Amino acid sequence: MDVKKAVIPAAGLGTRFLPVTKSMPKEMLPIIDKPVIHYVVEEAIASGIDDIIFITGRNKRSIEDYFDESPELEMHLSQRNKNELLEMVQEISSLADIHYIRQKEPKGLGDAILTAEKHIGDEPFAVLLGDDIITNNKPCTKQLIEKFQYLRQSVLAVEEVPSEKVSSYGIISGNLIDDSLYSLEEIIEKPAISEAPSNIGTIGRYVFTPDIFDCIKKIDIGHGGEVQLTDAIRLLNKTQQVYAYRFTGNRYDTGDKLGYVKAIIDFAVKNEDMEEKIKEHIKCKPFLQSRD
Ligand code: G1P
Repeated sequence: MDVKKAVIPAAGLGTRFLPVTKSMPKEMLPIIDKPVIHYVVEEAIASGIDDIIFITGRNKRSIEDYFDESPELEMHLSQRNKNELLEMVQEISSLADIHYIRQKEPKGLGDAILTAEKHIGDEPFAVLLGDDIITNNKPCTKQLIEKFQYLRQSVLAVEEVPSEKVSSYGIISGNLIDDSLYSLEEIIEKPAISEAPSNIGTIGRYVFTPDIFDCIKKIDIGHGGEVQLTDAIRLLNKTQQVYAYRFTGNRYDTGDKLGYVKAIIDFAVKNEDMEEKIKEHIKCKPFLQSRD
């Protein structure tokens, strides 16, 4: 069973990144010269997805503009024979079939995903949260899709998180089937460390059977007064075994200031033109000794 559609929720207010997110979506924060959301879309496409639904909200117009054609800019570049830049700009608007749904109020991740029900229909689909960039030769979403094709049930990407961060994630417990796959037992949204069933957290990648929509409709308001995807997954697990997969790759939580800066440093070091100069800069910096 192919997974061809993906939902990318991008309606959050970005409060962890205020004040810049007052007038700019957090998904548009640049990692060098590409916004975070571009990397997420690239991961979806490299995983075989060809139909992407963004769930946006107020203040997110720049995401639509970014993936749209830009006739004035294209004409400007073409008149000046800046063909490489022109190609780069044109490529972005033809990456995939992209659709937009606006979530009227930010009522939680579960509610955001439910708005895509009509577009998804009766097919399995992937969810990629707009904050996380995951690097690996085989994209994380592709790893989940491969597991889904074999298991035919919903699969969540998970990794160990530091204990002080357990209360920021959906935390699971499960039975290990092999060295990287769990059958899910329990999942709790942002538990206190004393109530956490483990320190294995769901990160922002999932593949679901369409039955998740009915589960979202049935759950009550959960943690933080929001409709939580985690609660819908717990309900789904009662009728269909859900799986959790320890993906391979490096994850950057770019919705967090530290994760964002780490992503910029690592991407700069991996960039051929910048590598040597950045390494030199970091090595020589007096700021490493002093906070002034
Ligand atoms: C969301 C989910 C949470 C998950 C996390 C991964 O939380 O609700 O279960 O572990 O993404 O990043 P958020 O980070 O949007 O608060």
